[in-house]
Parts: sequence; structure tokens; C-alpha cells
Amino acid sequence: MDKKSLRKIAVLTSGGDAPGMNAAIRAIVRAGLYHGLEVIGFKHGYSGIIENKTIDLDNDSVTNIIQRGGTILCAGRSKEFLDPLVREKVAKALTTLDIDVLFVIGGNGSLQGAHALNEIWEGQVIGLPGTIDNDLSGTDHTIGFFTAVDTALGAIDNIRDTANAIDRIFIIEVMGRRAGFIAQSVGIGGGADEILMPEKPFSIDKVTQRIERAKLKGKGSYIMVVAEGIFDGGATALAKEIKKKGHECRECVLGHTQRGGSPVAMDRILATRLGVFALEAALEGAEDVMAGIIDNRLTLTSLKETYESKKPIDEYLCAIQQKVTI
Ligand code: F6P
Repeated sequence: MDKKSLRKIAVLTSGGDAPGMNAAIRAIVRAGLYHGLEVIGFKHGYSGIIENKTIDLDNDSVTNIIQRGGTILCAGRSKEFLDPLVREKVAKALTTLDIDVLFVIGGNGSLQGAHALNEIWEGQVIGLPGTIDNDLSGTDHTIGFFTAVDTALGAIDNIRDTANAIDRIFIIEVMGRRAGFIAQSVGIGGGADEILMPEKPFSIDKVTQRIERAKLKGKGSYIMVVAEGIFDGGATALAKEIKKKGHECRECVLGHTQRGGSPVAMDRILATRLGVFALEAALEGAEDVMAGIIDNRLTLTSLKETYESKKPIDEYLCAIQQKVTI
């Protein structure tokens, strides 16, 4: 990496929003200004570049946002950006705006877009992991994950009261279409009796047997945490199957409640560390990489690797779960 002399940088948030994105924007802007750079933001992810929706970012623009959920730049998934011709236009627009570095805060799809753009644009593209799903390689945790887990835990604690009162089976669906990281952490933290994730195939018969075994042991309520991606229809479809086996149960889909709310400390600190680190990596000439944290060390991983190499579910946590359930 060569040290570059940069003048102007831009930042956008893309895909599904995640709590802590604002903290990341703030860190990039403040560190950028500290190093004497001009900073702008694009609204609504890649669409903001296509539609030239820009916003100047100074110290005041990012004051009082570290504690706010959502993203001041707005997010979104741009279908247009999947078109190579549109990406060519985007590259030209960035050059016309004299942008030297583009910071993309987002998940899987957003970082795929970031890599595709880096391939055709002369500037540097740097990614930051912004998704509640925690499904990117190259970082132990993504910005937003901790908050989503805490939000879901709050809901589970509430559900547990009513589940215990009525001795009921509850199936709580958390987000994660292709990944079970939220389900696993929420399940462990919420003391769930069962955790189902897309990474771990399961059979309804076995699940039902475990419920019956727990009931025989005198268990009243039964809390199951499932990722939305376990199969088509998620918790609602699963509840139907379990009812068919003769067990009364209720499902609760937490859905987008997990994406909102004030970011918890871990997300704010992670976002701030990654924002400053990404900016300083850009000054050193980094491009086509994502800033992440592995074993508490800040790292850069090629954008391609972050979404191409599948992040494994924590097998140690799976083993622990077996030992703490009745
Ligand atoms: O951002 C990730 C995520 O929240 C996933 O957990 C979920 O499957 C998906 O986005 C939902 O996307 P949308 O808000 O577009 O329905």
C-alpha cells in the first residue's frame, strides 16, 4: 500500500440499516476532518451516487448522532447498481465529484457492490461491516449485531413471563435469512430450550421429541429461538408443524424491531474504532478491503473474502447449549 495524498472522501450506508451506523459515519467524518480532508455523504446508499443526492459533512453534521439508531444518511438496496452500465456511470460521477475514497458501510450485498465498484473506478473503496446479521468474514462482529441481540433478549425476557405463567411453548423468530448468529447469541443469552439456525439442519420429529422429553422432566414453558431462514415461513410454519404433532404453541416474529433503537455500547465502540481505522487505512493507500476486528485486533480483509468465504457458526457455543438445556 502506498501512502496517498487524499483531499476528498465520501461515505454511504447501504442495505438494511443497523444500529451503530451513525457512530461509524461520525468516526469517519471526524477522523477525516482531523486529517484535513473534505467529507461528503451520499443519501440512500448507492442510489445517492446515481441520483447525485449528496450532503456536505462537517463536525456539526455528526454532532449528537452517536446514540441514534438508523442512519442519518439513510440506507437502501439499489437494484440499479447491479447493472454494470450503471456502475460505470457511478464511477464517472465519483471522479467528477473529485472523490478519492468511498467508504461503504453495509452488509453482504453492499460489500459485493463495493468490490465491483473498486474494480472499475480509479479511487479507493473501503468497506465497514454494517449489518445486524454478523455474517461477514473478516470480522468477529459487525456493527449492529450486539444491539439486535440485546433488543431480542428484552423481548424474550418479556415472553418468558407469559410463557411461564401459562406453561406454554413459544417460538421466537429473530432475523437472519441465511445466518444463525443472532439466533445463537439470543438463544444462549435468553436461556432458550432450543435454538434453530439455517446452518444446522433439524427434523421436526426430533424437535418434538425434545419438547416431549422436557415436559416429562417437569418443564412447564419451552422457549425456542429460531432464525427467520430455518425454512420457508419461519416460526409461523414451524408452529403449524408442532401444533400438528399435538403441541399447543405460540409464535412471535420479532422482525424489524431488532434493526431499530439506540446502539448499545459495544456497537458504538466497535463502529468508532472501525471508522477511524478505515480512514487511516485509506490514508495509507488501502483499497478493496473491509475494516474488521478479529481477536480484538483491527484488520483489513479483501472485500471479496468477506462475502465469499462463509463465516462459520460458533461450534463451541453449540456445545455449550447442549450442556445447559434440560
Ligand atoms: O439487514 C439484514 C436484515 O435485517 C436481515 O436480517 C433480514 O433478513 C433482512 O435484512 C430484511 O430485509 P428487509 O428490511 O429488506 O426486509
